Amino acid sequence: MRVANSIAVAVSLIGAASAALYPRDYETRDYFALHLDETAPPSTVAQALGARHEGQIGELTGHHTFSLPREQSADADAVLVSLKQARKLRRRSGEGAGPRSGDPLEGILWSQKLDPPRQKLFKRASPAPQKGPAKQSARAKADVKQLAEQNKLMEALQITDPTFKDQWHLFNAAQPGHDLNLTGVWLEGITGQGVVTAMVDDGLDMYSNDLKPNYFAKGSWDYNDNGPEPRPRLSDDKHGTRCSGEIAAARNDVCGLGVAYDSKISGIRILSKPIDDSDEAAAINHAFQENHIYSCSWGPPDNGQTMEAPGLLIKRAMVHGVQQGRGGKGSVFVFAAGNGAIYGDNCNFDGYTNSIYSVTVGAIDREGKHPSYSESCSAQLVVAYSSGSGDNIHTTDVGVDNCFNYHGGTSAAAPLAAGTIALALSIRPELTWRDVQYLMVESAVPVNEDDGSWVDLPSGKKFSHDWGFGKIDAYALVQNAKRWELVKPQAWFNSPWLRVHHEIPQGAQGLLSRYTVTEDHLRGANFAKLEHVTVTMNINHTRRGDLSVELRSPKGIVSHLSVTRESDEEPQGYVDWTFMSVAHWGESPVGEWTVIVKDTNVNEHTGQFIDWRFNLWGEAIDGATQPLHPLPEETDDDHPYEEADVATTTVNAAPTKTDLPSNPDDQPDRPVKPKPAESSTTTLPVEQQSPTATSKSSASATPTSTSDHLSTYLPSFGASKRTQIWIYASLAMIIIFFIGLGVYFQLQRMKRRRTNMNDDYEFEMIEDEDEMHPMAASGGRSQRRGGELYNAFAGESDEEMFSDDDEGPYRDHLNQPAGHDRPSSPQDRLLSEKR
Ligand SMILES: *[C@@H]1O[C@H](CO)[C@@H](O)[C@H](O)[C@H]1NC(C)=O
Ligand SMILES: *[C@@H]1O[C@H](CO)[C@@H](O)[C@H](O)[C@H]1NC(C)=O
Repeated sequence: MRVANSIAVAVSLIGAASAALYPRDYETRDYFALHLDETAPPSTVAQALGARHEGQIGELTGHHTFSLPREQSADADAVLVSLKQARKLRRRSGEGAGPRSGDPLEGILWSQKLDPPRQKLFKRASPAPQKGPAKQSARAKADVKQLAEQNKLMEALQITDPTFKDQWHLFNAAQPGHDLNLTGVWLEGITGQGVVTAMVDDGLDMYSNDLKPNYFAKGSWDYNDNGPEPRPRLSDDKHGTRCSGEIAAARNDVCGLGVAYDSKISGIRILSKPIDDSDEAAAINHAFQENHIYSCSWGPPDNGQTMEAPGLLIKRAMVHGVQQGRGGKGSVFVFAAGNGAIYGDNCNFDGYTNSIYSVTVGAIDREGKHPSYSESCSAQLVVAYSSGSGDNIHTTDVGVDNCFNYHGGTSAAAPLAAGTIALALSIRPELTWRDVQYLMVESAVPVNEDDGSWVDLPSGKKFSHDWGFGKIDAYALVQNAKRWELVKPQAWFNSPWLRVHHEIPQGAQGLLSRYTVTEDHLRGANFAKLEHVTVTMNINHTRRGDLSVELRSPKGIVSHLSVTRESDEEPQGYVDWTFMSVAHWGESPVGEWTVIVKDTNVNEHTGQFIDWRFNLWGEAIDGATQPLHPLPEETDDDHPYEEADVATTTVNAAPTKTDLPSNPDDQPDRPVKPKPAESSTTTLPVEQQSPTATSKSSASATPTSTSDHLSTYLPSFGASKRTQIWIYASLAMIIIFFIGLGVYFQLQRMKRRRTNMNDDYEFEMIEDEDEMHPMAASGGRSQRRGGELYNAFAGESDEEMFSDDDEGPYRDHLNQPAGHDRPSSPQDRLLSEKR
């Protein structure tokens, strides 16, 4: 016992250094993540549970992993579950911590049994690498003046990298202006010195002569094979190296240049095998004082069917990263928007890209066109260059001096954003993670402004769901960074949970719910200036893809929080899903916000809008008194469809005694919100609303939000003045709604036209065998591939496994054309899941 104890202590010490002493063994053991307070040392907890302490979860203070042999874990599991129940009861009764019995297990603040690793993250390589030079003959048409300028630049900076002239994204000699506009930045001597970007991916070839000079070992780790060197080991491990080259390929005689060619690059290897949530959480905080930027070109599958967010531990790690990383200035997370646009996917269905803590980057091609793969959403901040219009991104590849000419997808766009952020941080290391986002917003350049996707914002900026605030201009970014005044700390305002419980009408009607933000709300929240808006919602529906949601600001700016997805057959709606929008950045949030839930497909699939919560994030009024946001909590651990009850209790700002729907006449049971008319709910249009359609649950919701409410619109047209006002307001809303609908469809039409135009470009689709796993064809419904497969063959050498792969390990030659220009086969679908 003593021995076990001292091992546990030793492990806990080592654990802090993120190296797991014992490799994970999910075959025979069960793993638990626990959040402990200071009264519960991990060794004591381990002893009490009869568990082995595996170590702290990366940099997440107080969070530890424990394990037990599977056959012994049931007891510990039961204990943890009952402790969880007890905590919940204590919370509900408002007891809080309360008196302690001295049991160390009472120091457990949160626990979760870890799911065995499954491959849920996918690289976002190009679904359709462009064969080039194609019809446009990009290189052949190089502009004489541009070429002269390019030569001058190369001379001035002593650039001798052999493929620099192919790197149109750095300097586009054929299509002037369609590049990152780096010339002026580099000529000022700003090349990324002192900044480290961590490439969170499938490895980084630190023995590539193009990356070796800038490789930062101290910030690197292999979470797949548990070791300090995140070297590519599988024949498929090339993505991370290619992405790394875009950021930090050295100025030398190998391949091309990175955007920040004097910055450092770390490798954090997580994509080559499935990893569990505690490892993923550790990975995104890895060496977070040394690593400044985390470049992430992966995410849940981009198949237009998946709606996945990181688990709580990972969410906590992200928040911990922006609060404690980089000396408290915050880790900068950069995520690829996703490649699922051709499948109707949208980056608000991905919990990484729609996090307020990440810079979400879509793609634009070398002719300034929108690549058909690049996803749109209201959470997209900017776009950066990538594949399309007959060319791809030219970068470094795995191997001593190998180059790769077919990198693409939003996978290739995100690292370019990371590289330009590295340039900005190299001259202003004190920029916080939010300053970085501000600078992206301020510096992005709108493109194709007449394509119908742009909206003029009250802030004076323009926003597009397709392009975010525009394309990155490195020169503008760096100039703005030089004189940027740091923003005050982050403040937030959360509405209560807003109970709706109403059927969603089908067709052109929408279910509308309002929430009014007042000056008092903002003052009370120390809230000065709006940045992100999030809406967390519960909807139950038998076909998720039928739903769409928009958010309208008091100034009439519309965020399309979600869109219909043709292939999303999931027989559930949105379960505590948080959508995000950056479209209201800089807008005054005071006034009435409206959420409209639509089910435009008239069919047998129906559902209810259960509840929602509206959250504003922005800059504090008084920075000195503003605390850090608490780490995210679990919304609930019950069955998703029961969470409406939890939400109901949350609606009442004060703690309630019961979750049961209360008697509407019994006001004291349902404390009203401080301000009347804060929230109201109705369906449109009114005249089609029969009295019976107003469900009991809606009626029961009435007292929660006072006067201006549902019961008032029961068709009693000759009724009170208030009702009449309400009806007129509704009619006005209807008119606005239909005008909005008209505009929306017009936009959609324009968008379709644009897409069709893009389709006219003939490019030969080539299969990147590199990215396509031999087993991919067996994918079918199951999206799992790659790592899971490797896992299934655990124990066998990966090299052996792939020895029959018909390709050599290093490859930058042209692949075989697939002979079709739109992915449709299962293989293609699988390809698209990588960014
Ligand atoms: C690009 O950089 C140059 C300086 O090198 C600057 O004058 C220009 O405004 C920047 N932006 C564009 C769109 O050219
Ligand atoms: C949605 O929830 C309501 C209330 O809990 C229930 O009556 C209804 O059947 C549910 N609908 C679906 C599609 O699950």
